[in-house]
Amino acid sequence: MPAHAMSAASASFVAPRRLSSARRASGSARARRAASPRAEASSSAMDTLLGARIVSPDGDGAIRSSVTKYYGETLSSSDDLLTSACCTPASQIPRAVRDALSAVPDEVKAKYYGCGSPTPCGIEGLRVLDLGSGSGRDCYVAAKLVGDKGSVVGVDMTDGQLEGARRHADAYCRETLGYAETNVTFHKGTIEDLSAVTDAHGDTVKIEDASVDLIISNCVINLSPDKKAVLSEAHRVLADGGEFYFSDVYCDRRLPEDLRSHEILLGECLGGAMYIEDFKRLCHGTGFADPRVLAGHAIEIKDEALADLLGEAKFYSLTYRLFKLPDGRLETLCEDYGQFAVYKGTIEGNPHAYSLDDHHRLETGKPFLVCGNTASMLGETWLGAHFDIHGDRSTHYGLFDCGPSPVAGAGPAGDAPATGGCC
Ligand SMILES: C[S@@+](CC[C@H](N)C(=O)[O-])C[C@H]1O[C@@H](n2cnc3c(N)ncnc32)[C@H](O)[C@@H]1O
Repeated sequence: MPAHAMSAASASFVAPRRLSSARRASGSARARRAASPRAEASSSAMDTLLGARIVSPDGDGAIRSSVTKYYGETLSSSDDLLTSACCTPASQIPRAVRDALSAVPDEVKAKYYGCGSPTPCGIEGLRVLDLGSGSGRDCYVAAKLVGDKGSVVGVDMTDGQLEGARRHADAYCRETLGYAETNVTFHKGTIEDLSAVTDAHGDTVKIEDASVDLIISNCVINLSPDKKAVLSEAHRVLADGGEFYFSDVYCDRRLPEDLRSHEILLGECLGGAMYIEDFKRLCHGTGFADPRVLAGHAIEIKDEALADLLGEAKFYSLTYRLFKLPDGRLETLCEDYGQFAVYKGTIEGNPHAYSLDDHHRLETGKPFLVCGNTASMLGETWLGAHFDIHGDRSTHYGLFDCGPSPVAGAGPAGDAPATGGCC
């Protein structure tokens, strides 16, 4: 999204609705002191440095209980949200997704707490996994987009969310979509360990290595006490050529520990937001070289109590694309091999052009110069059927100038984050 458009998008934030309880919990220095963990960090020094963990005196379990309580008891619908960090600007939702949404059951939509649109188009036949699926809205949308040959699995740790998600799945797939079989299922478990989740019958299921083509997630990873484990698990379960496509909340700095473990800030998807640069380091450290940002908007904190607590910290909702390719295929910098890509115009809802990220928009039929990484992302992943890639890596011409990244290029007003879309 261009920087000027981000300014407009950023105008939509925070409709505080439960101010009294929130202020009691968060609106003063006293509250901030009370929320201070003071205890020892359970994380490694490196993880703490990277801001990859939310540190709690009682460990990861305490963070998960707090989050489970928030989404299982405190909130009963999206109207209860204190802020609009969990809110998606309509302009970021593709038409195919909007159409699919119209058929999603109301109960599922009422408990939507996402912050972006992490469901790409053109995913027919893919095996999709949704991390932190909540009431299942994105899974229901994906169930339609993948068609009856594709499959969708949602994983969430909160019973209240899973119950609603599971309740409508059969009727939605068989009656609304007309499928012979239900192609969406929901498992209970934590996204830090996908090797032992539980199905609706209580049986343990392992999400196998390389068994997923596309992972989606909407406003969840910020809530995880161990983001490194989440990315590592995502990398494990993705097949080569697969993608982790997700929207989440990020911060322009490392927040102090007392804010990171603050119950309301955490529940509202702000306290656990990662510093963007640390997130990129984490991507590189877990096998996802060259993270690409597709879209984003700044989050404005209008509630005075929360704003006071957060000081100068700025927050952004960003949709990232992390591709899994064989080891070494994605390089740390964009390199020039003289390659170009041609989009075939075949991705649903994108007949004229396709945006890989915020600075690669390929018009149908028009040759587009690409670096080696972009060539691999377009040609050697699930996107490969939609692009012709010309050239290979046999001759190297030096560094490739991928150009500026509009979402990544911060304006002085701070509307856009310094994400660095690639390179
Ligand atoms: C902000 S809500 C988003 C839900 C859903 N993605 C949506 O867009 O409506 C966060 C969800 O993530 C789940 N969650 C948070 N941390 C989790 C974890 N570590 N493991 C599994 N689920 C988690 C919560 O239970 C909650 O349902």
